[in-house]
Amino acid sequence: MKQHIGKVELAWEEAGRGTPVVLLHAFPLNRRMWAPQVAELSARCRVITPDFRGHGESGVAEEDSTMERLAEDVRGLLDVLKLERVALGGLSMGGYVAFAFLRRWPERVAALVLPDTRASADTEEGRKGRYETAAVAEREGSAAIAGQMLPKLLAPATHERKPEVVAAVREMILEASPAGIARALRGMAARPASFDLLPHIKCPTLIIVGEQDGLTPPADSEAMAKAIPRSTLVKIPEAGHLSNLEQPEAFNSALRTFLSSLS
Ligand code: MLT
Repeated sequence: MKQHIGKVELAWEEAGRGTPVVLLHAFPLNRRMWAPQVAELSARCRVITPDFRGHGESGVAEEDSTMERLAEDVRGLLDVLKLERVALGGLSMGGYVAFAFLRRWPERVAALVLPDTRASADTEEGRKGRYETAAVAEREGSAAIAGQMLPKLLAPATHERKPEVVAAVREMILEASPAGIARALRGMAARPASFDLLPHIKCPTLIIVGEQDGLTPPADSEAMAKAIPRSTLVKIPEAGHLSNLEQPEAFNSALRTFLSSLS
């Protein structure tokens, strides 16, 4: 489905009926990264997977894609779908957006899922790197970004044994527009730390991390688990940063147990 929401045309997909679950994708992928979770959850949940602006089939705006703007897009989508409260999940950049959403609309989040993400802001060096990568995207296109990011996104075992996952991730990166990639990079560079928010998160929270996640390592998840009162942490062996795609069975089992504990 596609509709103009706020400043952009947003694309999203819906599957199933029941408890509404909204899953926010990583940078610079798109909603298709959630295919194994949609297949699993849609038997008992209404699963909604948007493409962030500048990613997948969504349009791109002129301004930087700050986490606040991406959260406003999500809020707009929930309004269009008339969903007052949802279980909200966000992997990596999706998690940064979930934090921005929670800051403004905590009453709309019934439960939270935070896979492979972190509460810290970028370091000065990290910010500089984002600006350099944004320039590469604008100069050389999305393929250059796929080349830079793929080795870091997936665990060595995935690179060796799951070529279909590597290919699917590459394809999703190629579907993001260079402008969308650059604007999201500048948006992530501008994000604040979220540590102050964590003790105030009231809803049940599931934190998941791939044991070999080099981009948002397990220590980041452990820090979030310590600070969020009603949280559970699950570590997934033989998974890197995209644990939901690398080890979908372990990921889905954690998600299923968590969601069924809510009702
Ligand atoms: C992501 O997977 O969304 C990004 O790697 C997050 C980041 O670069 O901080």
